[in-house]
Amino acid sequence: MDLHDKSIVIGVTGGIAAYKAAELVRLLRKAGASVRVAMTEAATHFVTPTTFQGLSGQPVYVDQWDARMPNAMAHIDLSRQADLIVVAPASADFLARIAHGMANDLLATMVLARDCPLLLAPAMNRQMWENPATQRNVRQLQDDGIGLLGPACGEQACGEVGAGRMLEPEEILEEIRVFFTPKILAGRKVLMTAGPTFEAIDAVRGITNLSSGRMGYALASAARAAGAEVTLVSGPVAFQAPAGVDRVNVRSALEMHAAVMARAAAADVFIAVAAVADYRVAEVAEHKLKKDQGGVPPIRLVENPDILAEVAALPAPPFCVGFAAESQNLEDYAQKKRAKKKIPLIAGNLIQDGFGGDDNRLVLFDANGAHPLPPASKLALARQLLEHVARLLP
Ligand code: C5P
Repeated sequence: MDLHDKSIVIGVTGGIAAYKAAELVRLLRKAGASVRVAMTEAATHFVTPTTFQGLSGQPVYVDQWDARMPNAMAHIDLSRQADLIVVAPASADFLARIAHGMANDLLATMVLARDCPLLLAPAMNRQMWENPATQRNVRQLQDDGIGLLGPACGEQACGEVGAGRMLEPEEILEEIRVFFTPKILAGRKVLMTAGPTFEAIDAVRGITNLSSGRMGYALASAARAAGAEVTLVSGPVAFQAPAGVDRVNVRSALEMHAAVMARAAAADVFIAVAAVADYRVAEVAEHKLKKDQGGVPPIRLVENPDILAEVAALPAPPFCVGFAAESQNLEDYAQKKRAKKKIPLIAGNLIQDGFGGDDNRLVLFDANGAHPLPPASKLALARQLLEHVARLLP
């Protein structure tokens, strides 16, 4: 519910991607925002106003001459109540009209009369996007301080492949979150690890753990929203990298170690969220181990490097944050771990509270003692953890 006090107008223009705007409205409502929808007449040929009315729980406006607004000024009233207008999809025609300040339907008039920021998510055929006229309009819109979200490259409804696809609703939601997040980490480079590691035994088997990567990915997304340049060194997880985050894929602790050490000196902040295997298999079998080779195969383990402790021991280390997942004695173990690794901040959680789930309970431990955060979603906790980091940064 992180957009709960936000009022957002979604503008929908005519294009096949209009169906994705329905999902965007649903996601925004789920995140707590109040949403009103204004459509161009062309958009109603793709999705009906009834769909958006059902999803937004509010009347939908299409017609400039709509008599439902008591003062017949929907174009003014809609934007006055809004913190943000997002037009998704924004057609080539709509970009052209807004670039030229036209006010020839309700949505364009509302955009021209707005007193809040505007984001446009273009969606069109790749040749329409590449056309010099569209590119000229895009430059004009950017000069006018209007934000453009995408477009992405990929397969298009017309069967062609190229730039012009609208961002996915989840990506637009993420950009809206970014828009509303105070930029407390602007200009900072944040390096992070997340997920489990996988330590091979043979060609197909290995030792791993149940870390889902959710907390790390939530932190990467929150750090990026707070204005940081984020590099996420990730073990094998099922998630996509959050938009705008540079993801480096690794598998084993040694690969994670190498990827982090190559980047640590340039980082301002290092957050180690990964559940790194303490041990790896000393001799990895090149081929699949067979059962009938005379008894149980011996597996000798050797210790992995402690990535966090090594980064903290650099001559000019970044501000280091660790995680301590414990099943008991949280404060005692977490503070000991903080001292042993010589790091300023550690976030402790009880495994039974958060492993694998969407919610968690965190206690931050620093030189001033314990700072318990109220139980919340991993994304909300990520934001609070970063606020704490920003307060402690030199
Ligand atoms: O020592 P322990 O594994 O309990 O410490 C957990 C913290 O240290 C986490 O932040 C984890 O990402 C980090 N860590 C690491 N390299 C290791 C083991 C843990 O960076 N080999």
